[in-house]
Amino acid sequence: MSWRNIAKLSEGVYWVGVRDWNRRLFDALIALPHGTTYNSYLVIGKAKKALIDTVNPGFEKEWEEKIRNIADMGDIDYLVMNHAEPDHAGAIPYFMSMNNKAKLITTEKGAKLAQTFYKVPSERIQIVHDQEMVDLGGKTLQFIEAPMLHWPETMFTYVPEDRTLFPCDFFGSHTAKGLYDDEVEDLIVYAQRYFGEIMMPFRVMAQKALEKIKDLKIDMIAPSHGPIHRNTERILSAYRKWSNGETRQKAIIVYVTMWNSTEKMIQPITDVLASEGVEVVKYNLAVADIGDVAKDLVDSRAIVLGAPTVLGGAHPLAVYATYLVKALRPPLKYGVVLSSYGWGGGAIKHFQEVLGPSKMEVVGALEINGPPSESNVKQIEELGKALAAKIKGEQ
Ligand code: FEO
Repeated sequence: MSWRNIAKLSEGVYWVGVRDWNRRLFDALIALPHGTTYNSYLVIGKAKKALIDTVNPGFEKEWEEKIRNIADMGDIDYLVMNHAEPDHAGAIPYFMSMNNKAKLITTEKGAKLAQTFYKVPSERIQIVHDQEMVDLGGKTLQFIEAPMLHWPETMFTYVPEDRTLFPCDFFGSHTAKGLYDDEVEDLIVYAQRYFGEIMMPFRVMAQKALEKIKDLKIDMIAPSHGPIHRNTERILSAYRKWSNGETRQKAIIVYVTMWNSTEKMIQPITDVLASEGVEVVKYNLAVADIGDVAKDLVDSRAIVLGAPTVLGGAHPLAVYATYLVKALRPPLKYGVVLSSYGWGGGAIKHFQEVLGPSKMEVVGALEINGPPSESNVKQIEELGKALAAKIKGEQ
């Protein structure tokens, strides 16, 4: 038996996922500087065998070879689809073509998606509801509905005998490195970035899911991307903080500059915030990785947005970033907007249009012509002090 790149997590529970070291973009949007994994798991009971999630299209053969080390593809009794997105469900048609008996286990909403996306006939689908169980013989699959994390059909699978939770995307991270969390030094950074990109817009649903699993005995959290968490409390407490929108005394500065006038407006507020003891992260959108921005939006209390006017509106890179800020729904409480224009303003009005109604308090907005004068710099420094006081006033 070849055990090439297969992992036994506990007796009868195996990781049969694949590593995609070369993937650099997800959803044609999210940068993956260190690739990702598509984690699939095989659970062997005394009577039945179940696969939990599949892999991204293109990896079917590698996946099948791994499974064949432990069981025949045709001998699997259940395929659990925790989530219908193709990076986890894309190999369902391949599996079904090699197995004529297994039932696809999913939620009611998942059943519709399995039929639409993967042409799974209804007689091959077994719909499960919240807390329903399937007995494999000495191993139980317990299903926990966790909708909108981040699609409507999402659910978790829990195996009580092994105290292992399979939550699909939830608790995931995009990195191809490591099998376990303690093998990846900066794992929590990857996890925060993933949360910012994928889960942050659904913080309320995340809170509900965390509440649902709070009494489960969990020794291992095995998500569908990135390493498996053995240190479960670390990721659970991070998720509790992020889902509750707990922010730090921290400001994220996101800006674009064309002729350095906006840069010259950004610098004094950066310096004032830092000297006031506020943690500052600064991203020039011309060179920034938007995933890093998403990561820092997770726990920043304030944002400083800076951009020049181009052709009557804000610079397109800043419009894009502002749109993302709106869509990702970070827990920002305060904002400052700074803009410089050459021959006609309009950036600040444009920002307002893109952001729309927001709970964020705009502490100040300043639009100037050309580079900032000395008095402009003083104004910006005052704005920085006012923003720092707001940030520090709230714990
Ligand atoms: Fe990893 Fe929502 O798919």
